[in-house]
Amino acid sequence: MAMPRTTRPDGVCADVRERLSFFEVAPNRPGVTLVGAVRDGLLAPRKKLPSHLLYDEEGSRLFDLITELPEYYLTRCERAILEKYAPEIVAGLGQEIDLVEFGCGSGAKTRAMLRATTETQGTTRYIPIDISGEHMRASALAWLAEFPKLEVHALAAEYRDGLDAVPDGDRARLFLFMGSNIGNLELEEATSFLNDVRRRMKDADGLLIGFDLVKDPRALIAAYNDARGVTARFTKNLLVRINAELGADFDLAHFEHDAQWEAEKERMTMHIVCTRRQCVRIEALDLFVPFEEGEKIWTEISQKYTLDSMRSLLSSAGFELGHVWHDPDQYFAVGLARPVGKDTLR
Ligand code: TRP
Repeated sequence: MAMPRTTRPDGVCADVRERLSFFEVAPNRPGVTLVGAVRDGLLAPRKKLPSHLLYDEEGSRLFDLITELPEYYLTRCERAILEKYAPEIVAGLGQEIDLVEFGCGSGAKTRAMLRATTETQGTTRYIPIDISGEHMRASALAWLAEFPKLEVHALAAEYRDGLDAVPDGDRARLFLFMGSNIGNLELEEATSFLNDVRRRMKDADGLLIGFDLVKDPRALIAAYNDARGVTARFTKNLLVRINAELGADFDLAHFEHDAQWEAEKERMTMHIVCTRRQCVRIEALDLFVPFEEGEKIWTEISQKYTLDSMRSLLSSAGFELGHVWHDPDQYFAVGLARPVGKDTLR
């Protein structure tokens, strides 16, 4: 007999809530807090703000809008790949798995993976790690309502802190690192991050990685500087956030979003450019920060890969790249990697 469903005053079924556990993992490195990152970043000779600061509530909302822009092909391609191949990817693992995802997906690609696992196995445990806790909670509740055989163990944390808190279980785990997020790390950081992931993997675990392929720079520049200016709002939201949370007085009229293709490194670089000489006060840090006209604050890189450069990155971090799935235009790729010397996943 079906259990009666009780609905709480907040409109969420008790049954859904019971399948969610939610943990906040305190940051344990100084660069991760807003105060630390802004102080270090804006006092450096080459000003830089770490990209995880982009994803506060408003930033996450704007990023969701980016994923729907006509110019931003990445999400669409990745979604198409997973909608087509998720059942094949999951079946190919040959065993029941739990899913760990860096960045909590709210879109169709995560849905495809959750559907493929919950349809073919008993309960699936989904362990998202995301810095934007409330955004993750909302996504998690939506997934739980959609998939009755799902349990969510959410970790509100920066990736590495979250990685340390991933619970052990009996099952093999498939780690999802999608959305070309790997491309947002400098090569050295990417190698060290993947190394950390590999060190925490069990023999049977695998890594599913979504990466953007090198292509015509015009398509890339459009994807990172869209006609409607959503991407500009997204990066400039960093300044809005610093104004609100640290009592700064960045005047948004004199800062512009900029995205460039760096051909020799095969990557996009995103910055906020200061359009006139000025001094910005940041009250919470008791600081005045001088800016020259044309000076840039580096906000993000987005590395593009070939199969060879991805294979070599993975191998330098102790992984072997196995099967790779593409969209029909070969704009984007999703690869399954397994830790070297540990064998079970094909
Ligand atoms: N992971 C995304 C990417 O590399 C992040 C992103 C998309 C982004 N658009 C952006 C970051 C604009 C900064 C600015 O594609």
